[in-house]
Amino acid sequence: MIIDHPLVRVKLTRLRSVETSTAEFRRRLTELATLMAFEVTRDLSTRIHPVMTPIAPYEGAMLARPVVLAPILRAGLGMVEGILQVLSDAAVAHIGLARSEETHEPHSYYFKAPLNLAAADVIVTDPMLATGGSAVAAITQLKAEGAKTIRFMCLVCCPPGIARLQAAHPDVPIFTAAIDPELDSRAYIVPGLGDAGDRYFGTVG
Ligand code: PRP
Ligand code: URA
Repeated sequence: MIIDHPLVRVKLTRLRSVETSTAEFRRRLTELATLMAFEVTRDLSTRIHPVMTPIAPYEGAMLARPVVLAPILRAGLGMVEGILQVLSDAAVAHIGLARSEETHEPHSYYFKAPLNLAAADVIVTDPMLATGGSAVAAITQLKAEGAKTIRFMCLVCCPPGIARLQAAHPDVPIFTAAIDPELDSRAYIVPGLGDAGDRYFGTVG
């Protein structure tokens, strides 16, 4: 699903610009993650939660299941703070994957997730879905640890990445701010926004 909102388009344009500083890149990525979290969580189940107002009893709502955020390191970490603004009690898993510059395939260097994955709604975050290799590997690891209900949230993706992720994990909905046309010879998204991890962590060049 494309999250097409004027504020999302405007903030994503700032992320794409080569002139955007590391400080602004961080700020905009956090803001985008907060905005997108509303759509990504729209169909989370709730259950009745009775409270007493100062005036009378009220049958309110609470989330039915715990939420686990699962950022793909490094760049996915940049989306966590923004989502926690509206889901402050979510647990956070860490999935360490790095793409080989030669093969463009990811290799795993770290995985740590809470024990309650099977009972949780899991939101995998990564700004970029390029070849799809990292997203597929992350979700495969999460399922092997018991996760059953998983959403994938990114900022920019492209047709090859969508096709690979949907083929490997057809049960996982994809939420994105944009679908760009293609990959270049280094498997970067065109026009994309460059290397998201390097831009967020200030390790460009
Ligand atoms: C980038 C990005 C994704 C992955 C996308 O991470 O953040 O995780 O590449 O590419 P794919 O869809 O082709 O797998 P990278 O491996 O460069 O690591 P980094 O975030 O640590 O820079
Ligand atoms: N990883 C990125 O950070 N950007 C791309 O365009 C592709 C992979």
